[in-house]
Amino acid sequence: MNHSTTVVKPARGIEGSVRVPGDKSISHRYAMLGALADGVTRLSNFSTARDCTSTLECVRALGAQWSKDDSGVIEISGRPTGLAAPKAPLDCGNSGSTIRMLSGILAAQDFASELFGDESLSRRPMQRIIGPLSQMGARINASDGGRPPLRIEGGHLKAISYKVPVASAQVKTAILFAGLFADGETSVEEPLRTRDHGEVALRAFGAEVKQSGLAASIRGGQKLRSIEANVPGDLSSGAFFLCAAALFPGSHLILDQVLMNPTRARLLDWLSVLGLRISVMQLDEKNGELVGTIEVRGNQLKGGTISGADTAALIDEIPVLAAIAPYTQNGIEVRDAKELRVKESDRITAISAGLRAMGANVEEREDGFSVGGCQSLHGAEVDSMGDHRIAMAFGIAALRASGDTVIHNSDASEVSFPGFFQALERLAK
Ligand code: S3P
Repeated sequence: MNHSTTVVKPARGIEGSVRVPGDKSISHRYAMLGALADGVTRLSNFSTARDCTSTLECVRALGAQWSKDDSGVIEISGRPTGLAAPKAPLDCGNSGSTIRMLSGILAAQDFASELFGDESLSRRPMQRIIGPLSQMGARINASDGGRPPLRIEGGHLKAISYKVPVASAQVKTAILFAGLFADGETSVEEPLRTRDHGEVALRAFGAEVKQSGLAASIRGGQKLRSIEANVPGDLSSGAFFLCAAALFPGSHLILDQVLMNPTRARLLDWLSVLGLRISVMQLDEKNGELVGTIEVRGNQLKGGTISGADTAALIDEIPVLAAIAPYTQNGIEVRDAKELRVKESDRITAISAGLRAMGANVEEREDGFSVGGCQSLHGAEVDSMGDHRIAMAFGIAALRASGDTVIHNSDASEVSFPGFFQALERLAK
């Protein structure tokens, strides 16, 4: 547990240009596939997030050597003939992506491994990967209730056709990674479209992944070859600044070279419905991922309801949308978001508690919440509950509160965005 504190002062606007760290979801996947590929994978703008360092340390412990140069370029030497048995349990830190997606790969290795994480990760549900990976033939033990630590006895896998009960890109990716080693063709069908970086990354590394409706499938035994890639900026990190700009009519912000993958960019549609004026420039495709530069101008914000497929598409952005909700005209309601309760914290409770401490009226429900519009908030002492997105969301809510807001455990933000509060201070006028 850390005990850092950051004070955020009210602002009058957001002005400037910013480059956010490389996308976290893509960085995890490139590091894992780089560890399996033939040759040296060279990744620039690799995420500086603490979570991605957890992944890198795990792949090193599995025998895939990597180095980082002064400009942050990571070079990973792949082990196409198989990973090495780790000498100690693998520390996944706070990262659900690391433990779940790596489990898919470990399920197919001919050795046993253990994965563990911090207090928050130790509370998170793993049955969602244990179920399908066990069906494929892996033997996995977990703590009570299917929580970490996990012990995986990997080996020969057989292909399955699996319907994922709860929409999760981490689960889909874990199964596809395992499918890469299985006998036959593994297919995963999801109830709603989730981010497709697993499929896109596998293709970039040379594997064929088929898509049919909501099902992705992969044939086992395909070989991966190393890539050179520049990781696009993380739109889920940029989301905090987009929402900050949205708070002030007259703000002007440029987000340089961020990910524009359609399975991640729903926020832009949503913010434009709310009233933010958005333009996208320099759209380009790299390794199957869309990248662009976004320019926004603040405007009066309306409000709305997020539910169903939108909730799944915006799952990481909901904390910051909640943070701007009191300042919209009609407020924001979130439904179908039970998954928020099993993220790095119970995000429904964490966000409701902090916004209430700042004087907001929040109605909390089992699968969501509703924050009324046209509210005036005041600075208060709030707690991130050790959750990066909650720490940063409070930093945004604080910009339009009266008086200073004290955010406890603020350095949780380093889990996805080291330097976030410094960047916010630079952009806030
Ligand atoms: C992620 C998928 C989402 C998301 C997480 C990253 C990924 O989680 O919330 O931050 O990279 O696949 P779920 O798979 O649990 O939906």
